[in-house]
Amino acid sequence: MAWVERNAIKPLEDQLGFGEFMHEYTSALKEIHTKVEILSEDFAVRHNYNPIHHVERRLKTAASLTEKLGRLDFDITIASARENIYDVAGVRIVVNFLDDVYKMEEMLLAQNDISLISKKDYIENPKENGYRSLHLAIRVPVFLLNGWASVPVEVQIRTVAMDFWASLEHNLRYKQCNEITPTMNLELKACAEVSATLDKRMQKIYNEIYKFNY
Ligand code: GTP
Ligand code: MG
Repeated sequence: MAWVERNAIKPLEDQLGFGEFMHEYTSALKEIHTKVEILSEDFAVRHNYNPIHHVERRLKTAASLTEKLGRLDFDITIASARENIYDVAGVRIVVNFLDDVYKMEEMLLAQNDISLISKKDYIENPKENGYRSLHLAIRVPVFLLNGWASVPVEVQIRTVAMDFWASLEHNLRYKQCNEITPTMNLELKACAEVSATLDKRMQKIYNEIYKFNY
């Protein structure tokens, strides 16, 4: 315990094994990114429709990891981050249509080296502010010099319309200096609902055009 306390005083990035820790997550990110890329290419080869609009990936910084551990009242150590934080590695898959979100989820979870830790469906149950996306915490095996590790990755799957709303909302909320008033929050929520309606209408048009399933 004394060691943990001493260790916790050191910034996370200066603790022993931080390089190896981050490398596990960088590798997991590559594994998932490659899986999504392969699915996307397979669509190009087999069908005349690709549900994937684009893919983004990011690794949490030491500062953001430290902030999150502190906020959740966990020890600020590598062991604690490994145990408690599932979004050190994050992949965002932006798809075209609403049904594509769930098709992507199914395709990923069908891969037998991927296991599901948890799922938050903010499309079925949008956040209070109107935010919509499907969040999956999954594990993927990573093969390293001293064996293999099962590494968590947070996967967010959302439509282009959901992504449009989330990125502008994030921009307004975090990058502007002025306060967001309750009226603005209501307006943002109303915009999210317009966007959700748009997704449903576009899906309907899609279904009428492509009267088959891939
Ligand atoms: P954090 O990972 O610390 O945010 O907590 P959490 O895991 O409880 O949150 P959640 O799974 O709900 O959301 C994680 C991520 O989803 C965030 O880092 C954002 O990328 C995205 N997100 C969640 N809520 C919002 C929102 O209201 N607006 C926007 N723009 N993005 C959101
Ligand atoms: Mg999260």
